[in-house]
Amino acid sequence: MNQNKIWQGNWTFILAAAGSAVGLGNIWKFPYMAGTNGGSAFVLIYFLCILLIGLPVMMAETYLGRYGRKSPINSIKKVVTDFNLSFYWKILGWLGAIAGLMILSYYSVFAGIAAAYIFNFMPSNEVDPVYYSLNYFSEFVGSPMKMIFWHTLFLGITCFIVGKGVIDGIGKTINFLMPTLFLLIILLCIYSSFTGDFLRAFNFLFDADFSKISTSVIIAAMGQAFFTLSIGMGAIMAYGAYMPEDQPIAKTIPVIIILDTSVALFAGLTIFPIVFSNPILSVSSGPGLLFETLPIAFSSLPYGSIFSSIFFILISIAAVSSSVSLIEPFTAWVEEQQIFTRKLGVIILGLFAWILGLGSIFSFNIWKEIFIFGFDFLSLMDFLTNNIMLPFGGLAICLLVGWVLEKEKMKKDLKMNSGFYNFFIICLKYVAPISIGTIFLSYFFS
Ligand code: PFF
Repeated sequence: MNQNKIWQGNWTFILAAAGSAVGLGNIWKFPYMAGTNGGSAFVLIYFLCILLIGLPVMMAETYLGRYGRKSPINSIKKVVTDFNLSFYWKILGWLGAIAGLMILSYYSVFAGIAAAYIFNFMPSNEVDPVYYSLNYFSEFVGSPMKMIFWHTLFLGITCFIVGKGVIDGIGKTINFLMPTLFLLIILLCIYSSFTGDFLRAFNFLFDADFSKISTSVIIAAMGQAFFTLSIGMGAIMAYGAYMPEDQPIAKTIPVIIILDTSVALFAGLTIFPIVFSNPILSVSSGPGLLFETLPIAFSSLPYGSIFSSIFFILISIAAVSSSVSLIEPFTAWVEEQQIFTRKLGVIILGLFAWILGLGSIFSFNIWKEIFIFGFDFLSLMDFLTNNIMLPFGGLAICLLVGWVLEKEKMKKDLKMNSGFYNFFIICLKYVAPISIGTIFLSYFFS
């Protein structure tokens, strides 16, 4: 890898990885998952998953990327060759690249809806905001053409940025988008704490209801930890390949995790005060929370339509900075193998994601009644990626780095003190694999 392909300064990696991590998962999924799964009981388990699984896996993934200095598929291949491992380990790189395209396919559908909602202005004299909002959403998702338009636009922007390259495309865009994102979330949080019911939102998020903890809540918290940190599929590995050699991984990854978790908490403290400002509304899960409930709530607040647009701009920014990292691992491989140029490669891969995304679009309308193993198409993609492929990828990364890589060199490269290093290795070798394994087994016995 030549020196032109290293992030400039330590902050670009931090912002790029935080850009990947902060996305729909934080602003939309985390608040409703916390709200419907026992408030702070869920938050506590989620924090544990982040600390004991997320942190070590993210550090390990970054390390693997920097070790290989190539696309995740080829970085894993290098580890396999260097350590004389079985050919089957190579599946890890491929699984991640494929999971990235699968996630991108439905991610782009939701991001497209969010982008469209920037322009959803409810008339100020609307007499029935509830009807207006529900009707607007059901008409929107009932129209495959509208959804395809926004899905295409969002994927097009993603591919355009990635096509320009990692340093000039992703790096430069992220350097501008992430500070904007942080500013917007703080602005919105201030707005909602002044106009909404902040106290009730706070209690809702942080009042513990331990009776709600069950295996499925633990599974959900772990799936969310993987999804929100973008780990287990090579996105962070792909970015790690461009990390400066002397950047201390052990100090960098906690910063990213703190940024990601703060945005999730801020998002909860933005959305729920607004929802609770309206006594007729309750917390809904799924797309309903963002696209039905919130617009109703915004409609009765001062400057509601402006802040509603700002909110959807925020979501769109968060989504773009994540979506680029979903397609980057595969694109990097296509470019490295010189199968196509980067630009042509990303167009072809984008086309795959686009076609797969049609399935998710149709599960809102013409395939509404079609179920595969009890899931509609969109939920099946979501389940396969978040609950199977990412944790499986994470498990393989733990085993590879925890049990196979040379420890002395790693300790030096990671620049950790002994206490942190021991914690890292114990988590990678035992805590994370046993937790992920147990949760996997529980699928089959529950
Ligand atoms: N972390 C992103 C979010 O929270 O929305 C989603 C994501 C991006 C998952 C990139 C996986 C990934 F590789």
